[in-house]
Amino acid sequence: MATAVSSRWQVRDVAPKIGTEIITDKETLLSGERAGEIRDIMERRGVIVFPEINLTDEEQVAFTHTLGTFAQEASEQALTGGKGVYPITMDPTINPHADYLKGAFYWHIDGTMSQVPILGSIMSSRRLSAEGGDTEFCNTYAAWDELPDDEKQAIDGLQVVHAMWRSQLYHDPEPSYDKLKQWQAIGRNVLPLVWKHKTGRKSLVLGATALQVQGMDIAESEALLVRLRTWATSPQFVYRHKWKLGDMVIWDNTGTMHRAMAYDHNSGRLMHRTKLEGEEAFA
Ligand SMILES: [Fe+2]
Repeated sequence: MATAVSSRWQVRDVAPKIGTEIITDKETLLSGERAGEIRDIMERRGVIVFPEINLTDEEQVAFTHTLGTFAQEASEQALTGGKGVYPITMDPTINPHADYLKGAFYWHIDGTMSQVPILGSIMSSRRLSAEGGDTEFCNTYAAWDELPDDEKQAIDGLQVVHAMWRSQLYHDPEPSYDKLKQWQAIGRNVLPLVWKHKTGRKSLVLGATALQVQGMDIAESEALLVRLRTWATSPQFVYRHKWKLGDMVIWDNTGTMHRAMAYDHNSGRLMHRTKLEGEEAFA
């Protein structure tokens, strides 16, 4: 006789073009039985919110493994306390690289310095700031889809130089020479402005690391990048997450941009993040 397995599973879109909320329980997430569906929703909707799911660090790591290949950079391992979750905080006693995280306050895609960026991130709130600290996401698939055809033709095929130092200049516009050289040592990467995914879908590749469209006059290039960023981050493509303690949010890093909204750096705000290894190169 078949046994009925009852699990909580309520799926609701939170905005027309981005963001889905799933009400469920830990057991369902950790069983992996919905992993395929979660991957599918992540790719279609960009962002999934699991309100107040309250996974522990160990559970978050286990859940991440159900979705794909767990990713961790060697440089990050020391900070995970052996648990595999990376602390996102402006508190330098918890994360001595807090300075680098300041680039996260501006629209970006993670991993534009590599050819295969991470597929996605999973982030849980551990401590909140009293004010601010929301996270915004925009859907770069939808932003491409809804461009006028003549605009699509004009930009498809363009290549853009990305450099990490560009994003650091947003928050530190007058670095010392030594600091600038450190940032520049990370290198640069040339990426397509329009990403043609294996699925056949296309998305825009923009963000704070975008330095210059190759072969284009610098002022013209900046105007194009700013115009496209403004378009891709306009309200119809954006979901803004207002965190509650214990929320977990996952997002498709290959079809979205994200940014943190300002908050008091002394507030102790703390997020624990895990990542999914990239499965597709920029193309
Ligand atoms: Fe990020």
